[in-house]
Amino acid sequence: MQRYEVHFADDTPPFQLRDFQPPALAPRQVAVAIKAVSLNYRDLLVSRNTYFCPIENGLVPCSDGAGEVIAVGEEVKDLRVGDRVASLFFPHWQAGQADAQAISGALGAEGPGVLTPHFVTEASGLIRIPDSLSFEEAATLPCAALTAWHALFEAGPLKPGQTVLLQGTGGVSIFALQFAKAAGAKVIITSSSDEKLAQALQLGADHGINYRRTPEWQDEALRLTGGHGVDVVVEVGGPGTLERSLLSVRTGGRIAYIGVLTGLAGAANPMMLIPRLAAIHGIFVGSRQMFADMLQAIAEKHIRPVIDRQFGFDEVPAALAHMERGAHFGKIVIQVS
Ligand SMILES: NC(=O)c1ccc[n+]([C@@H]2O[C@H](COP(=O)([O-])OP(=O)(O)OC[C@H]3O[C@@H](n4cnc5c(N)ncnc54)[C@H](OP(=O)(O)O)[C@@H]3O)[C@@H](O)[C@H]2O)c1
Repeated sequence: MQRYEVHFADDTPPFQLRDFQPPALAPRQVAVAIKAVSLNYRDLLVSRNTYFCPIENGLVPCSDGAGEVIAVGEEVKDLRVGDRVASLFFPHWQAGQADAQAISGALGAEGPGVLTPHFVTEASGLIRIPDSLSFEEAATLPCAALTAWHALFEAGPLKPGQTVLLQGTGGVSIFALQFAKAAGAKVIITSSSDEKLAQALQLGADHGINYRRTPEWQDEALRLTGGHGVDVVVEVGGPGTLERSLLSVRTGGRIAYIGVLTGLAGAANPMMLIPRLAAIHGIFVGSRQMFADMLQAIAEKHIRPVIDRQFGFDEVPAALAHMERGAHFGKIVIQVS
């Protein structure tokens, strides 16, 4: 059997196929035949060894997988062979507020990930998925979708009629678009591409702004909200976009701080929060309970994850290159078996 492992060397791709022997199961462990994996921007950072924690050679990459349970340890009570499941990004964050233990061992960085046909984890690190979702669709949920859900509904309430500002058309932003529209909110979305903006409008976005042609997009966000500003910004750009987000948010609004697409450090001035009485919340994926609540909303609102493109298991380098080019709209999926 072959799985991907991270091996950093000058002249070879960082994610490499290697032979492995499936391990014996401990009493609380479950083996999953992974059917599909989705890529996140984070996996690109892992492949470049620029993610915020050290990456060990030999690590199995990627956090987001879905598949079928093929074996359970003797103490496992709540999962059975044949169950359809997805991975939890944070296998120890079950519910409530996070502490250091809850967010330890994140898959595909601190702990072994899912880019393997045979994934072994504690039963508590998996969540059942509904039959209405394909494995490919379910594999898009553990990181990007849950982060968007957390940003919109857990870090504060999102009320019908409120306005959300989204940046770009990658995985987190497109899920945030779908969730925000399903909750009756208005969406302003930015993109580098008019074609992608047209796709976002088709998905329900109310306004699109091309951030290349309109670099001062905060002015347009203010104009579109009658000068008031938006209620929530889903900040995936990071340091390079934060200042414009601070200028876009209404008095009493909030910024869900998520991403690092523009780098790790910058010069935005937090002083701007004061006259706006605004808040910035750090968002880090989410818990199993949030995942369960999100799955319920996905089922009730008939939300279908947007998959840009699927790649074969032997095409992972091409899939990473597709993500690096920013060519995608929504999610990129790897079919594993
Ligand atoms: N804190 C967390 O828990 C968490 C969880 C998930 C993701 N993240 C972070 O959130 C970010 C997005 O992740 P993702 O997986 O959704 O990425 P992704 O799918 O690769 O999305 C990237 C897209 O973002 C847009 N973009 C790039 N630079 C931009 C800029 N300067 N301004 C506005 N949009 C820009 C581009 O969209 P267009 O092509 O439309 O321009 C690009 O295609 C990453 O930094 C990731 O590490 C954090």
